Parts: sequence; structure tokens; C-alpha cells
Amino acid sequence: MNENLELIGAIDKTRLPKHIAIIMDGNGRWAQQRGEERVFGHNNGVQAVRETAEAAAELGVKFVTLYAFSTENWNRPKQEVDALMHLLVVTINNEIKTLNDNNIRLRAIGNLESLNPEVKLELEEAMEKTSGNSRMDLFLALSYSGRWEIVDAMRKIAGKVKNGELNPDEINEKLVSSCMNAPDLPDPELLIRTSGEYRTSNFLMWQTAYTELFFSSKLWPDFRKEDLYEAIIDFQHRERRFGKTSEQIINCKG
Ligand code: IPE
Ligand code: IPE
Ligand code: MG
Repeated sequence: MNENLELIGAIDKTRLPKHIAIIMDGNGRWAQQRGEERVFGHNNGVQAVRETAEAAAELGVKFVTLYAFSTENWNRPKQEVDALMHLLVVTINNEIKTLNDNNIRLRAIGNLESLNPEVKLELEEAMEKTSGNSRMDLFLALSYSGRWEIVDAMRKIAGKVKNGELNPDEINEKLVSSCMNAPDLPDPELLIRTSGEYRTSNFLMWQTAYTELFFSSKLWPDFRKEDLYEAIIDFQHRERRFGKTSEQIINCKG
């Protein structure tokens, strides 16, 4: 606990990332290390979700996006996919009260139409019941992939061009951003991936063009508030140059 207070003290609250995106990875290995089925790891990942969301909201982060199920994850064995979907239904339902107590609004990105009706219904209900909350938006990326989202945006844009609403010359970055699943969601300043894998696995491809990446060796079920604090502290020690020189950045500050 004291260690946490020390870490919180090291965070500059005036320079918090507005949006933190997280690739929650390593559940299967966590379970296998304990001689258990992979699903055991997914079940134990829920506590990490709870802690991360709470810690982010307490600090004043406005948006957190959790990669919960990718387009590619549909290719896992049916038994695991079914277990993950079941876990989603149960967890979303169980967490509504905690989300409301913490003033957190639940939202989602991804191909929600591809989810089974029970999951979709539960998700819609939780989003509705938390829609009045305003401290932080917690996004679940479900049946999501960055390429899918970009293709989806292209389809919307092509539709507008086809029916004469839009001239191809008017297509620019701002327009493409506005055609993403959640146009009001700012690009993440920080992306965290757990489990020691160094890749982004088709997550938020458009939005992470200039995101700072932080890789944690912890497996997701072991991720705790202090791990989030450490990632934020590391982020705050970086110089974000956006193509400029270091001198330009320093002069701008001065
Ligand atoms: C992340 O953990 C959870 C999901 C992808 C749904 P994994 O299930 O990928 O765990 P590992 O990477 O196999 O250990
Ligand atoms: C990425 O993790 C997807 C989620 C965390 C939901 P994976 O474990 O599926 O990624 P890869 O396949 O190892 O890259
Ligand atoms: Mg994995």
C-alpha cells in the first residue's frame, strides 16, 4: 500500500495520458504455469481488469480501452471461445454495480454484430445502465481488430461518396478518424501490453500511429494498480517529439 502511495506521488497529475489502451495478454500461460486449463487464466484476469479500471479512474484518466477479444481470437478452439463468451456475460453483469459506484461508463468497439445474442444483450444492457457515468469511459474491444475497423471506415466513406454526400477530395485524416467506431475516443497516448510479447496484434492500428508503447513482462492476471502506475511514470519520462527535434520541444516548453 505504501509502495503504491509512493508511486502515485511520482505521477504528474497534470500530464496524465487521456487515453490508455491495454492489450491484456498472458492469461493462458498464467493458467498453464499452475497446471490449469487456459480458462482458469481468463477467470483470474478479471481482478486485473477491476484494479486497472479503478486505478485509472482514481488518477483521472478519461479513457481506457481493453483489448478483450480480437477478430483473430475466433480461431481459437471452440471450447475456449465459448468459455470466454460465457465469462464476458457473467463479468459484465457482475461489474455493473462497481462501474456505477466508480462513476465509469462502459462502452465497446468492434464487430458487435458478430457476438452471440446473449453477449450482445448483456453488453447493451450494461452500457445502458452505466450511460450516465462521467468520470471515465471504459471501452471493451470485442471481436475487434484494427484492420477490420479501418475497412469498416472505408466502407462508410465509400457509401458517402457513392450517394453524393462526399467528394473524394474531401477525404482527409480527420474524416477517416471520424469514421472509426468511437469518433469521440481520442488516440491513446500510451499502449500497454502484458506478458512480454512485443507486438500490437492488430489493435487500434489507425489510432496508435504516434502512441508510446510500454511492454510489461507480467502476465495479465498478475497485473495490479502499481503496474499501471509504473507504466504511466515511464511514459511521463519520455520525450514525445512528433517528428520535431528535441531542441524544438525543449524551446517550446521554455
Ligand atoms: C489474453 O491471454 C486473453 C485473450 C486473448 C482473450 P491469452 O489467452 O492470449 O494468453 P496466452 O498469450 O496464451 O498466455
Ligand atoms: C491479443 O492477444 C488479443 C487480445 C488480448 C484480446 P493474442 O494473445 O490473441 O495475440 P497474439 O495472437 O499472440 O498476437
Ligand atoms: Mg496471448
